[in-house]
Amino acid sequence: MSETASITLNGKTLELPVITGTENEKAIDISKLRDQSGYITLDIGYKNTGATQSAITFLDGENGVLKHRGYKIEDLAEKSTFLEVAYLLIYGHLPSKEVLEKFRADIKAQMLVHEDMKIFFAGFPSKSHPMGQLSCLVGALSAFYPESLNPNQTEEEENKTIINLLGKMPTIVSWIQKKSLGHPVVYPKKDLGYIDNFMNMIFGEVNSDKTFDPVIIDAMHKLLILHADHEQNCSTSTVRIVGSSNANLYASVSAGINALWGPLHGGANQAVIEMLEDIKNDGGDVEKYLAKAKDKNDPFRLMGFGHRVYKNFDPRAKIIKKACDDILEKLGVQDPVLDIAKKLEEAALSDQYFIDRKLYPNVDFYSGIIYRALGFNSDMFTVLFALGRLPGWIAQWKEMRDKKEPIGRPRQVYNGEIDRVYTDISTR
Ligand code: ACO
Repeated sequence: MSETASITLNGKTLELPVITGTENEKAIDISKLRDQSGYITLDIGYKNTGATQSAITFLDGENGVLKHRGYKIEDLAEKSTFLEVAYLLIYGHLPSKEVLEKFRADIKAQMLVHEDMKIFFAGFPSKSHPMGQLSCLVGALSAFYPESLNPNQTEEEENKTIINLLGKMPTIVSWIQKKSLGHPVVYPKKDLGYIDNFMNMIFGEVNSDKTFDPVIIDAMHKLLILHADHEQNCSTSTVRIVGSSNANLYASVSAGINALWGPLHGGANQAVIEMLEDIKNDGGDVEKYLAKAKDKNDPFRLMGFGHRVYKNFDPRAKIIKKACDDILEKLGVQDPVLDIAKKLEEAALSDQYFIDRKLYPNVDFYSGIIYRALGFNSDMFTVLFALGRLPGWIAQWKEMRDKKEPIGRPRQVYNGEIDRVYTDISTR
């Protein structure tokens, strides 16, 4: 007999179905509760609410497990490449060699961005935040590729939009970097791979064919893979909810970029480096900053610490911490901020406040140190997160559309004024 949960409201007992996931996760299905009883459930911040059933990513926060389509993140980060993981997330299985080659070639063929996009891009102040520019440019792609507006695209048409976005995103990111320096943009090159092309467009010059140390290219693959998807987080939920109104992929991803920007989410990677710099410039006293983080009257939080779902450790942070040590050593980079990060982590992990609240370093704690060692400015860090998260956003948007999920529309408990009598302004 299938499992049910019962709820008694005003003496009337209702049986609610229990849904069991493939990893044995349990959920009480309350979708008919209001129809049957007039009640809704209340869960501010969706701390205990499942918004969908998804086959893309499994996350067990208590045990620090993360898998994409059944594959462990540790294996993917170690053995795979970014575009292979992108394919896996979007289409549900690992590609054959031929299929992956075609996927790569199709994406490469779409890396050029329409020249007219440069006209309005030129209007951004060069110091404006890269995330604001990125969300505008990605949203603007819908103006240049209006066929994406059709919510009833065939699978082939939808695929074209997906490939187009995967191809253009690194080019757009490189435009933003070049603009911040006042340098001309570098065009994608036919003979370079996805990551090599990206790095050449970022760090190369107009006619250069810069080659990069394989350590750097490997690090970029690893970082992007580690960010590729994370089930129903704030930005992904945003992408799904925007897409659920039948908004096009560019508009949905543009909204996700804005959600990612906040320092409580993807913006934390920039905030971490700035925090570590502040601590260094203030004499390196990590205890002082721990005390600030614990002080409820102080708005300061330990950036890069804590996670809504991970309550043991973030498996991505473990991989990144090791990668950070390896990369800095291989590149011969000595970063005093890394010493501060290690001291801060050690002090926090043995502090009762952090132990009681199960606060551990998250993926953003060490990623910024690697990005910095690779030569990126701190305000580009969240843009790199977005580049990594793109396949996840696409996969989640596609899954939601393929399953024809209904428009996302939470309810509320109204607790405002009732029945006030309108008075004319002259009498107020
Ligand atoms: N520093 C100090 N205290 C913290 C921190 C922190 N970084 N994070 C949580 N806490 C405390 C809270 O004050 C709260 O304490 P209380 O129970 O005494 O009131 C308790 O831990 C629980 O925290 P919540 O904010 O309720 O947890 P929530 O799940 O809502 O927030 C979040 C998770 C936003 C990640 C939070 O831990 C945080 O702000 N971290 C810093 C920002 C950060 O690193 N964000 C990146 C997250 S990973 C990602 O999005 C890619």
